[in-house]
Amino acid sequence: MRDSLDSKEFMDEVKYHSRQKHAFLKAYLDIWSEQVGKKGKTIPTLDIYDMFASYGRCKCSEADEVWDGSALLAARCLCEYSKGIRLWLNSFNENPDDMAKQHAGLNRWLGTLEIPSRVKINLDGKPIEDAINDALKKVNPRYPSLWILDPWSPSQLPWEVVEKVARTEGVFYTKKGKVTRRPELFINLMTSVLQRVSGMTDGQEKALDIALGMPTEEWRSRLDEMREDGLDTREAIVEIYGSKLADIYGKRPIALTVPGTEGNLVYTIFLVTEHEAGYYVMLKHRLQKYFEWHQHEWAKKAKHLKHTRKGIRRAEKAGLKTSLDEYFR
Ligand SMILES: C[S@@+](CC[C@H](N)C(=O)[O-])C[C@H]1O[C@@H](n2cnc3c(N)ncnc32)[C@H](O)[C@@H]1O
Repeated sequence: MRDSLDSKEFMDEVKYHSRQKHAFLKAYLDIWSEQVGKKGKTIPTLDIYDMFASYGRCKCSEADEVWDGSALLAARCLCEYSKGIRLWLNSFNENPDDMAKQHAGLNRWLGTLEIPSRVKINLDGKPIEDAINDALKKVNPRYPSLWILDPWSPSQLPWEVVEKVARTEGVFYTKKGKVTRRPELFINLMTSVLQRVSGMTDGQEKALDIALGMPTEEWRSRLDEMREDGLDTREAIVEIYGSKLADIYGKRPIALTVPGTEGNLVYTIFLVTEHEAGYYVMLKHRLQKYFEWHQHEWAKKAKHLKHTRKGIRRAEKAGLKTSLDEYFR
């Protein structure tokens, strides 16, 4: 799909690795629209809260591609799923001009969809600590809700915020007895940043205090213990985060490692769902499809980009005046 230059102004410029995040999110959302929402079944209502909604569409100059961001993927899911009733978007930016652009982008891209009147859309623009309180006032925890928590940096998503959502418990009764329900979570934990600052002592390491919700001494001693057991720092951080979620949900989250095009590991996505069928379908079927896509499409293009970049670096070394921007113009 080609978009005009003008419309590209209202898109988030992203790296090619984030294509994987959106493909994984789509794989999960498709379970709702294609499976849970199958005709003929009695289905519950669904709300989606995208708390770091950004522009709604992404552009990747390096790969010369555009695709849907989390907000548009969520909107499409709620249109398809016949009991989708609320799309809550929080799109905040410290720079007011950028925030206005993000909101304009969201309005613009949502305007391209035919959104049924049953889907109510709220657009908020606050730092996450305030935004989460606005959103939680609206949620009915007895019904399914999905929370997309996708910040730029780990300290933009304090553990207290995650825990506030995770502990929003709804109780209802069926013929089988009492059932409790918690929100489903899609969390992007920037493990590469956490890994890098974990050995620092200049204050940057506080990002782990915030993201993991524990004092420096505690995560330091836990990381040391786990490294003695053979885990690397990234794996240990993932283990600590995953077990904190498992303590609340009574079930381990699905964790997807997202590599950059150079092969470095950039972030880990945690998917927490209490929905037995959703968990099973994701693990057994959708992930398999995701990995097929990853192998046949994403990895191929990533390899191509890596080689192109290498060529450019070589040319730059040889004194040729070129840059990625010029190359892709
Ligand atoms: C990685 S982007 C989100 C991308 C989006 N989820 C998507 O898939 O298209 C992170 C977003 O968080 C916003 N942001 C930055 N600091 C924030 C904060 N303290 N609270 C809430 N949002 C914040 C940024 O403006 C940016 O739009």
